[in-house]
Amino acid sequence: MVTETLRSWAPGRVNLIGDHTDYAGGLVLPMAINLGTTVTMQPGGNTLHLRSARRQSLHLDLPLGGVLAEDLTTLEPAWGRFVAAAALELASTVGGSGEVTTTLPVGAGLSSSSSLELAVALALGFDGSPLELARFGQRAEQVASGVPSGIMDQLTIAAGVAGHALLIDCATERHRAVRMPDSVEVWVLHSGVPRRLADSAYAERRRATEVAARLVGPLAEASLDDIEAIDDPVLVRRARHVRTECDRVRVAAAALEADDPTEVGQLMLQSHASLRDDFNVSVPELDHLVLELSSRGDVFGARLTGAGFGGCVVVLARPGTDLSTVRSDAWLVQAGDGARLL
Ligand code: GLA
Repeated sequence: MVTETLRSWAPGRVNLIGDHTDYAGGLVLPMAINLGTTVTMQPGGNTLHLRSARRQSLHLDLPLGGVLAEDLTTLEPAWGRFVAAAALELASTVGGSGEVTTTLPVGAGLSSSSSLELAVALALGFDGSPLELARFGQRAEQVASGVPSGIMDQLTIAAGVAGHALLIDCATERHRAVRMPDSVEVWVLHSGVPRRLADSAYAERRRATEVAARLVGPLAEASLDDIEAIDDPVLVRRARHVRTECDRVRVAAAALEADDPTEVGQLMLQSHASLRDDFNVSVPELDHLVLELSSRGDVFGARLTGAGFGGCVVVLARPGTDLSTVRSDAWLVQAGDGARLL
């Protein structure tokens, strides 16, 4: 029997504002982008063989009964860990042979790994709602990376809407599309610093927000007075970031809808300062880049985006601005639709 060739697509994402709030039940305002991963696959058999133009090919004996022969965290080539985690979570026993291509920079903080997981899941026959796909992807990402990440990346990738950002309440996992006005363009610039140390520090930051929440309640709505009264200055700063960042996200979504990019830009700069000073997830290269960009007349605002510790800044700029002269690793991105079979 000749089976049909399947093609799936999953975008990457960039977060406009609201970082290190998703796992604390807070608000985020990311968008799926027009860069992403395509998987082309001929289904069949019980092994998975995927070629990559950029990387070593992957050959995987599929996990019969949900158990992989290899230890996932040491699987080589490393990109196969994300593929294997997707196959494992899906309890897939039907494999295939095909190719993976991506237009995303890998490891830059634009969710290349989640994009890969969701594209593989769709090619292997995942059938469910965008929220189910997102929850699936979050589990796969946690298994593959060992990092206790939140749901922002996967929900954005699964539920993205062209021309819109998504305002997500991570406590309820409900979201709504917020139109991107014609008065702005979104750029992503790499700081040149790889996201080293991000994994262990990420887990440590998440733990701190959980300890603080046990003292003052859910941080997204805790009283700032209660937060300031916590008897540990580090916990105060961590909790204050989450609480104030959620307010900034709410105001930024309203400002985007009111076509007020100046206000959104100011909130992005405040977000960066809070991530730098209260959450301590910035690095000097990111700070310099944000400072340089914010002094330009054609930029409304800029901030580190994603987990931090290196990686990229997101920039809200006037249409027609060219930021490729600032960094060679610069991408003008559009808000795109979510993951799907093509
Ligand atoms: C990473 C995680 C997300 C989120 C961001 C920080 O991208 O995967 O869940 O926590 O960091 O906002």
